[in-house]
Amino acid sequence: MRQTIFILNGPNLNLLGQREPEIYGRDTLADVEARCAALAGGEEVRVVLRQTNHEGEMIDWIHEARHDAAGIVINPAAWTHTSVAVLDALNAYEGPVIEVHISNVHKREEFRHHSYVSARADGIVIGCGTQGYELAVSRMLRLIGREK
Ligand code: DQA
Repeated sequence: MRQTIFILNGPNLNLLGQREPEIYGRDTLADVEARCAALAGGEEVRVVLRQTNHEGEMIDWIHEARHDAAGIVINPAAWTHTSVAVLDALNAYEGPVIEVHISNVHKREEFRHHSYVSARADGIVIGCGTQGYELAVSRMLRLIGREK
C-alpha cells in the first residue's frame, strides 16, 4: 500500500530562499520538496509538502493526517514557541512526528529555546539547514518501515 508523509511548514516559510538567507539559506521550499520526494521514491511513499501562514489551517492539516498520513515532518516555525493548539493537534495524531528547524534555535534568541512541539516529537532535527528535511524524511522512512 502506498503511504504518505506530510511535510508541514508554518508561518513565513513561504519566503524560504528570500527571507534572512544568512540564517535560512537560499533553497526554496520547492527545492526541499523535490529532494524529499526523490528520497521517498514516489512509488511506495509519496511526500506532500504544504506551507501556511494560518494556524487554524495547520491544525486542520494535522487532523487530516490522522487519516491520510503515515507520518508528519513539521517545521512549525514561530508556532513552535507559542502554540499549545499545534501541540494538542499533534497529540491527537497517532503516527510518528519529526520536528525540524532549519536554523540552530539554541544559538539564537532565548525565546526560540523553548518548543511546545518537542514534548510530542519522536525526533528533532535542528540546525542542519534545509538538509534537515531530508534527514527527517530519512528517519521517517525507517519509522514507518519503508527504509530503502
Ligand atoms: C525556524 C526557527 C523558528 O524560531 C522561526 O520562528 C522560524 C523558522 C527554523 O526553521 O529554524 O520561522 O523554525
